[in-house]
Amino acid sequence: MTEPGRPRCVLAYSGGLDTTVAVHWLTHTRGFEVVTLSVDLGETVAAEVLQRRALSAGAIAAHVLDAKELFVTNFVWPTLQAGALYQGVYPLATALGRPLIARLLVEVAREVGASAVAHGCTAKGNDQVRFDVAVGALAPGLEVVAPLRQWRMGRSEEIAYAAEHGLEITATRESPYSVDANLWGRSVETGVLEDPWVEPPADAFAWTREPGQAPREGLEIQIGFEAGIPRRIDGEVVEPAALVARLNSLAGEQGVGRIDHVEDRLVGIKSREIYEAPAAVVLDTAHRALESLTLSKDVLRFKRLVGDEWAQLTYDGLWFSALRQSLAAFVASTQNFVTGEVRLRLRQGAVQLLGRTSPSSLYRRDLATYELAGDNFQHQAAEGFLSIFGLPLRTQAAVQGNLWEASRPLLPSVPRGIAQGAEQAKTEPGASPD
Ligand code: ARG
Repeated sequence: MTEPGRPRCVLAYSGGLDTTVAVHWLTHTRGFEVVTLSVDLGETVAAEVLQRRALSAGAIAAHVLDAKELFVTNFVWPTLQAGALYQGVYPLATALGRPLIARLLVEVAREVGASAVAHGCTAKGNDQVRFDVAVGALAPGLEVVAPLRQWRMGRSEEIAYAAEHGLEITATRESPYSVDANLWGRSVETGVLEDPWVEPPADAFAWTREPGQAPREGLEIQIGFEAGIPRRIDGEVVEPAALVARLNSLAGEQGVGRIDHVEDRLVGIKSREIYEAPAAVVLDTAHRALESLTLSKDVLRFKRLVGDEWAQLTYDGLWFSALRQSLAAFVASTQNFVTGEVRLRLRQGAVQLLGRTSPSSLYRRDLATYELAGDNFQHQAAEGFLSIFGLPLRTQAAVQGNLWEASRPLLPSVPRGIAQGAEQAKTEPGASPD
């Protein structure tokens, strides 16, 4: 029932302990009418369970949205095309999910006339940054409430709170880890993982087989791209979300996609993270392989800078920034010719590139070949090219004379064996005079 005068709040709801307690807390401590929004990005509790739990905790309405295709098409594909990996390794699954959820929170807030949105992130993580900053950018007038930053409850206090108010929480043995998962990857932290020296226990993984226990024969797979977007697996056209899901299971079976990384959070701390991202690892490898064939050397070089910027701003919650829009325009402009097929072997945790082909390939066999027959490279032109290319160095050496001296002498420290002919041995100083 809507009571006049009570403000509304839309809460991003996962169905877990934190957000279930948050429904009750927002209602009773903060006086909101709570509408929950659960966004399905590929890994969620069943809709009926989410809705039952939210309503029984006191929500006035519980929305469940399937945003898998939106997620892959608008967030994952552009990031794959950008080649963005945070600190060179993390495919950004969690970081990409947040701005989409934030955007949908704002849309639902407008629809139901809410004055606030809420999320279940803590004060120590990156996720709060992503929600707060994104909502601030999209709807500056909306208040953002983060109950976990405000209530002073730890996990046990929350469990006690839930019991006291009769809230339905998952009864099964609680995971020793904090996990966030969507189609693009699974992020695992806390528990024994907090010691970076400790090998992640088997129970930290859910999507990937232990590489040593994966089939020895491995799996050969072919990915087809059109303009930088993966469209086919082994020649069969597969829709975006299904393509990612299928690769997660195919590659996960082969032990591919485990990432163990000590990562720098935006809030200034280093944190040990375990990721499982089989599809992301396979697609990133394949996409890079196709780009190396179809993009020019200077575009490839510049694009690496763009990929790094993209990863950083996505990680830092700046998805909706003007910079991301500009980088997106650049990345899109590079993908027209990234069309073709890539062949890979997935085996016991490894991704091995077997081959790549493209109708727009810049690779020319007649230029690259070391065979005489069919060689179209202008060998004579190399001399003129080198006399000009090397000119600045020769000039510097001639004028400043420091290039020989500045280079470290290597010869005396290199062990060598010298064999000399008899003639030369006679005249050589130090040779026995006889
Ligand atoms: N460190 C990763 C990131 O900031 C993953 C965070 C995952 N969140 C979680 N609740 N486990 O993107």
